[in-house]
Order: sequence, then C-alpha cells, then structure tokens
Amino acid sequence: MRILVIGSGAREHALVWKLAGERSVAQVLCAPGNPGIGELAQCVPGDPGDPASLLEAARREAVDLTVVGPELPLSLGVVDAFTAEGRAILGPTRAAASLETSKAFAKDFMRRHGVPTAAFEVCDSAQDAGRVIAAGRLGYPLVLKADGLAAGKGVVIAEDRPTAEETVRLAMVERRFARAGDRLVLEQFLVGEEASYFVLADGAAVMPLSSAQDHKRVFDGDRGPNTGGMGAFAPSRLMTPEVERRVLDEIVRPVLNGMMQEGCPYRGFLYVGLMLTADGPQVVEFNVRLGDPEAQVLLPGLDEELSVVLQAAAGGRLPSRPARCRAEPHVGVVLAAAGYPETPQSGQAISGIDDAAGVPGALVFHAGTRRRDGALVTAGGRVLTVVGRGRTYGDAIDVAYQAASRISFEGMQYRRDIGQKALRP
Ligand code: AMP
Ligand code: GLY
Repeated sequence: MRILVIGSGAREHALVWKLAGERSVAQVLCAPGNPGIGELAQCVPGDPGDPASLLEAARREAVDLTVVGPELPLSLGVVDAFTAEGRAILGPTRAAASLETSKAFAKDFMRRHGVPTAAFEVCDSAQDAGRVIAAGRLGYPLVLKADGLAAGKGVVIAEDRPTAEETVRLAMVERRFARAGDRLVLEQFLVGEEASYFVLADGAAVMPLSSAQDHKRVFDGDRGPNTGGMGAFAPSRLMTPEVERRVLDEIVRPVLNGMMQEGCPYRGFLYVGLMLTADGPQVVEFNVRLGDPEAQVLLPGLDEELSVVLQAAAGGRLPSRPARCRAEPHVGVVLAAAGYPETPQSGQAISGIDDAAGVPGALVFHAGTRRRDGALVTAGGRVLTVVGRGRTYGDAIDVAYQAASRISFEGMQYRRDIGQKALRP
C-alpha cells in the first residue's frame, strides 16, 4: 500500500516513522513534510490549506490511503473532496470536524446527547454575553471561549466580572480573534486534573488507543503563556481502568452514536480533552485529530501495524477492540525556538540530532526545521520533539533529557519538568 500523510510537524513525523517499514506499506509519502520526514518518506508538494492540491498529490502519486495530521485541511473539507472521488482517506468530514472547529456545536451536541461537560451558554452578541454575565449563574472563575479555531489562544479564564466583560469586549467589539470570536461559549470552570484520551473510530466501531498528558504553558511549573504544547507523556496515570471505562461509556460511545444518529458519522482519530473532576470525567474539548506533541508519545507505544488499522478505519471495517500498547511509558520534550510562542526566531543552525537519536530509547521528531545549503536550520516555533522511552516514567524522562542535552541551536528553550506530574504519588 502507498500511504500519503498530510502535514509537516513532529506529529506527522511520528506517523511517518511508525508507518515506514510496516509489512503492508510499500511507500510512505508526505505532503509537504519536513527534512526529518524526508529521511523516511518521499516528500511531495501539497498545501494543507488547499485541499485541491492534496487531492492532486494523491492522484499523481497513485496513493492507496491518505491520513490527515492537522485540523486545517479537515476544516476545509479535504475528506469530503477525497470521498467524492472515491479516494480512501482517514479523517472526519468537514461537518464531523465541527466537534473541534465550533465549540458551540460541540457543547450543544454534548447537551443533546447527555455527555458530561461544564455548564455553558452560547452567546452570539456582546449584549447576549453581557446578559449571561449579569445573571451570574455560571460563577467565577468564568471560562470564555471563542467558537472557532484560534490556535490555542481562544480561551480566557476570567477571575471576576470586570475581566469577563473586558474579554467579551475584546472578542466581540474589537474582534481580537477575528471571525472565530463572533460567537462565544461561556462556561463554568471545572476543577480537577487534565488528561486526554485517544480513540480511532470508523463511524460505528471504536478502537481505544491510549491516554496522555500535555504541558501547554511555555515555562516550568505551568507558568507563562499557552503554547501548542511543550511536552507530553503517555499513558496518563490518572487514566485508571475505572476512569477509562467511564470515559468510554459516558463520553466516547455516546459521542459516536450521537454523530451517527445526526447523520454525521465520525471517522478518524478523536482526541477527548478531559477534566477529571470529583463528579467524574468531563469533556473540556474535542480535537478531530491526534494531538501534537501527544502523537509523538502515543504512536511509538502502539504495538499494532498502524497501516492496517488506519486502512480498516477508513474502510469502515475497524475491529472493536482496544489497540495493543507497549507497557513502557513515553515522555516527549519539545525543543522550541527563542521567542516562542509570540515571536519565534528562525534560521539558527541545529546540531547534535544524530547524537541525540543515538541515545538508547530516544527518538527525535522534526517540526520547524529546514535545509539551508545542506545544513539543518530552525524554521518554526516548535523545532523538534525528543522522545524517551523507559521501563518507568523516571527512566523515560532521563532518556528524553539526556537526548535533548545533545542538541543545540541558538536560543533553544525547553521545559525541564516534562513528565514530573507522572512521578507524583
Ligand atoms: P480548550 O482550548 O477548550 O482546550 O481550553 C484550553 C485550556 O483551558 C484547557 O486545556 C484547560 O486547561 C482550560 N479550560 C478550558 N475549559 C475549562 C473549564 N471549563 N474549566 C477549567 N479549565 C478549562
Ligand atoms: N497539544 C494539544 C493539541 O494538539 O491540540
């Protein structure tokens, strides 16, 4: 089988790494890919923001199956375009991707299907939001979310009424989030620990994959601005068999059944962002894809021929059983450019990657890298993800940081506390 992966980050590098060399895979292609991916796959032109260019790549390269990494092409209907031509692709349709692309849709959908999530109101105008704030029913802190995709920046946690009112003004009057903020979801603040849970679905059947915990803030101790993710580990120790059973029974199955009932069957990876509260697991958000950096710690732990299960999911023939997973924990540390997340610098020479990848148990995945006159230089905010695997979380952390310490580029920054949460009793 010839498989095309869409995307160019460390998540897609991990997908390509897992698929390359599998028995049923003749060749892996990636559009557009990156230099690390280029060592394992054939990188071909294709713009994740332009579904027609991706369809053209799949046609030209006679691809048997396409797998979508990021949300952008899904939100633009890449799956609909491929399906209309009878081309196999794994991912949700544009309508099904609304679980991520519209927080209002996701919340209303959960209400319709009894899926546990924070109490909320959807507001279509500043007046609307003002009324909800004045009523005070949702309490403080109050969580305000831009409805549309806002690259992780669309959520504000307001401690008091003036902050909430100011947030509404910035979103709806000054339109700080552009169109994404023309509709806001106001919701109750949930208290608990965050974890994410990943499944693969084919519309009806579900294959539970694993769980993970992300580190979204840029600095140690969860301080500083939010980022796309500075590191992750898998599995999450919070995901006990009892919690996992509740997540599947109370969230995952009702969501998949609900999507089917509404004429919008969900096919692809589903990322369930959870708050584990005293009242049980509640949904914070859905993503209609694997996470980044979660994929980098999840995929190496899967003891499955990934190409086979992805093809089964795309064809509606996914077996309803949990994925086989290795026992070892994986810890992934993101090496970011100076200035990330606000103003990342690029063009710095990178050294030490081969050395890092030579540390036993370590893997290095590329994100913001490119070649300049043959040499590797930085080309984005998140530059690399360094993953360590070990017998224990402590071992995996040691491997990841040992490997990370061999890599350098000017201004390189990374958190020193990735995985520490997993060591707490
Ligand atoms: P989201 O983009 O919806 O995942 O929100 C980003 C982050 O805001 C989450 O990872 C949580 O840390 C936090 N958050 C979102 N919604 C809530 C909530 N209802 N209660 C507490 N924290 C929240
Ligand atoms: N790491 C969070 C995400 O991929 O959305």
